[in-house]
Amino acid sequence: MAGPILVFDSGVGGLSVVAALRARMPHAALAYACDNAMLPYGRRQDAWLVERILAVCEAAVAASRCAALVVACNTASTLALDALREHLRVPVVGTVPAIKPAAMVSRSRHIGLLATSATVARPYTLRLIETFAADCRVRRVAADPLVREAERYLAGELPDSAVIASALAPLWEEPELDTVVLGCTHFPLLRDLLSAAAPRAVSWVDSSDAIARRTAQVASDVALGSGPGQSFASAPDMPLAGVLSRFGFSGPRPLALG
Ligand code: DGL
Repeated sequence: MAGPILVFDSGVGGLSVVAALRARMPHAALAYACDNAMLPYGRRQDAWLVERILAVCEAAVAASRCAALVVACNTASTLALDALREHLRVPVVGTVPAIKPAAMVSRSRHIGLLATSATVARPYTLRLIETFAADCRVRRVAADPLVREAERYLAGELPDSAVIASALAPLWEEPELDTVVLGCTHFPLLRDLLSAAAPRAVSWVDSSDAIARRTAQVASDVALGSGPGQSFASAPDMPLAGVLSRFGFSGPRPLALG
């Protein structure tokens, strides 16, 4: 039976990928799942996180009867993609920092990676840098406070410009840096604010278009979208319901976690 494409993140960050999926697959039914009870993922222990991501994704895949799972979270993908692919029977598309496209556009060969503290330190990320940006200098910047800022921003609160400025500050210590990878799906939601806070023009690169392209290649038996998509959360609440409804999803149902 045909099913939706299920997009998963710790919080609302995956909605930056939803926009790209809608642009590339305008007729596909989408569903959304988030583990907002455990947000943020970026500072959690790896072993705990793998178990948690498996439990949440298993429950959400079962509840949504999806045709494919998009793990719209760099922190989860750089850690748990293999485990998810082993456990789930649907195609799984991951999200990893856009190091390769950034290396292709950087003229100065000096790139910044803005991501969670987990993602900037992961062996997966270091391998991406070695493989695709060996001739570039890459400044890795942990910017966990921007996750909360993106959550607050989507919920209609004013972002804290001091938090944004201090998260970005290490990038500007590098005068030659001309390209910044947004290696957390929450960050493209703040793109205009990040750009406005930058003291000079840089290219901001994220993975959402590449993920949408890959999803269109691997997902088969995708249901046609009509009406709001289903959504699931570990802590369904009114503010989240409001954000999801603006992005075309019905109010979140609780995830049945064992
Ligand atoms: N949106 C997630 C990512 O892409 C992480 C946010 C979090 O720390 O929970 O890495």
